[in-house]
Amino acid sequence: MARITRHGPTVAFDPKKNQVLLIDQRLLPHRFEVFRSEDYRTTARAIRDMVVRGAGAIAATAAYGLVQGIQAYRGRSLQGLFRHIDRVFQTLREARPTAVDPVNAMVRIRNRIQTCQSVEEVRQRALEEADRFAREQVEEARAIGRHGATLIRDGMRILTHCNAGRLGFVDIGSALAPIYEAWRQGKQFTVFVDETRPRSQGAKLTAWELAQAGIPHFVIADNAAGYFMARGEIDLVIVGADRVVGRTGDIANKIGTYTKAVLAARHKIPFYVAIPLSTLDWELESGMQIPIEERSPDEVLYAWGTTQRKTFERVRVANPTSPARNPAFDVTPAELISGIITCHGIFRPTDLWSHRSTLQSGFSS
Ligand code: MRU
Repeated sequence: MARITRHGPTVAFDPKKNQVLLIDQRLLPHRFEVFRSEDYRTTARAIRDMVVRGAGAIAATAAYGLVQGIQAYRGRSLQGLFRHIDRVFQTLREARPTAVDPVNAMVRIRNRIQTCQSVEEVRQRALEEADRFAREQVEEARAIGRHGATLIRDGMRILTHCNAGRLGFVDIGSALAPIYEAWRQGKQFTVFVDETRPRSQGAKLTAWELAQAGIPHFVIADNAAGYFMARGEIDLVIVGADRVVGRTGDIANKIGTYTKAVLAARHKIPFYVAIPLSTLDWELESGMQIPIEERSPDEVLYAWGTTQRKTFERVRVANPTSPARNPAFDVTPAELISGIITCHGIFRPTDLWSHRSTLQSGFSS
């Protein structure tokens, strides 16, 4: 295991070298390495190949990827630059289609540069705005933590799915933010970490983060959650989201989230979704309109891990001649969700729309 007691931000930007710096999440928890992306196409590939993953982290990565594309522009014409920006925007947006955060982050930059009068001014403002987005995300996570921690009591057993922690954001996270805050306040509890097949973000990343923080936890097989719920061994579920439909409160999150929400409803266990404001989509009319990414079948057919000889290897798990399907996300309808934890407080999912002026006004600490 990579023995790091603290790490820097998951996503950073080096303006002198025009490089995006990413903690390489494909290698964790076995190796800790920083991946340096030299141009926006590599940054888009890093998002698609999940060097970086998690809605908040890919949002900041896309924001810096857009800046990277802008800095690399060699022309003098402002119109030419805006055409170039459209291409960069599209490339980064297509890297992963389910999370809306990268689009919202890049739109923010595009709005900010609209009135610029020179190429140099665009460069400067775009970088300022990407930096502001990354900084605010961390502040927002702290506020999510403060609101969400009020749900956590001593002795609770909390289930989470996938990774919505420091690695899924620039820092701190969404679903893990209340957990980090409650722990800081001295509350005692245990986290049940869904393994999260096929890519095992729970077993690899969330477990690694919680171990770093010294928070008691168990990794459980995805299929074990119902067993623990039926025996009264889970008191609360907190997950993140890749997109929340503001009109209805339906959410998309890592495949398997819907199953956990159905189980939680069956056992009357509160089910909360923690999000930054960049996860809100005010356009779509229902969760079923959310584009769901379907990834390579190989992620289901094979598994990655470290051998006793410390080599990092891929092994075939499934029958060699069988094909697979691999939807990366599913949709949980609002009726299964107890509340949405945001930096402005906790809302019933169906109340998001009536609070849209607050939620669209952004975050200021
Ligand atoms: O495929 P991933 O690892 O990018 O999926 C991440 C999740 O589903 C998270 O729960 C979500 O992005 C919310 S918080 C980072």
